[in-house]
Amino acid sequence: MGKIVIAIDGLSSCGKSTMAKSLARNIGYLYFDSGAMYRAVALFCIEEGLVNGQSIDTEKLRNRMSDINITFEADPVTKASVTLLNGRNVEKEIRSLQVSRIVSLVAALDFVRTGLIDRQREMGKAKGIVMDGRDIGTTVFPDAEMKVFVTASAEVRAQRRYDEMTARGENADYNEILHNVQERDHIDQTREVSPLRKADDALLLDNSNMTREEQKAWLMEQFNRISKKC
Ligand code: CDP
Repeated sequence: MGKIVIAIDGLSSCGKSTMAKSLARNIGYLYFDSGAMYRAVALFCIEEGLVNGQSIDTEKLRNRMSDINITFEADPVTKASVTLLNGRNVEKEIRSLQVSRIVSLVAALDFVRTGLIDRQREMGKAKGIVMDGRDIGTTVFPDAEMKVFVTASAEVRAQRRYDEMTARGENADYNEILHNVQERDHIDQTREVSPLRKADDALLLDNSNMTREEQKAWLMEQFNRISKKC
């Protein structure tokens, strides 16, 4: 049974990363969060003053792309993967609503995508990887052996994000989150470069009414079935 590449794509806040992380842990694969890279670029834009309201200074960002170095390392205590922007741990900052508000604009820029996609492909060369994002099964790894496209209703997704933020003790406004989820869906699905869409050969998973255990069982069943053939 050879190692495979698993691509998990889907709408925002549908639990892709929790699902991808736990699948990777269960099968002994590496997990890679492509969204964290787009979020790190968005944070860079905020910190460097390249954002004006809802618009990004595209030309300045294009010239500054070579100043952005995104790496990952394991947290010494929790062992969870953390995102580093130019050597600094930004795992918390990249999950803020401020970053969520502009990340899809940043991710729609072709030069941002080209730079990050090369890096993502590099990570998948050795196989044995679970990567989640928006275009992993369509653009980054069109030949991935296992592809899953995850979806859930906007209300369910907003509630999950709300619960996640309040559990962390953060202030959260359900309506604001719902608006952000819907807006990002729209930008992600209608952008010109690599829009979010289900690959023809991806398995569809609507987890609106599924428990984590049911989802885990479903994923393991698919993984065992597919990897047996590889
Ligand atoms: O909030 P959620 O976990 O759903 O999003 P994320 O995976 O952290 O990604 C944040 C944003 O980055 C998405 O809304 C997309 O605009 C963008 N993204 C992308 O365009 N392509 C990817 N492969 C991953 C993320």
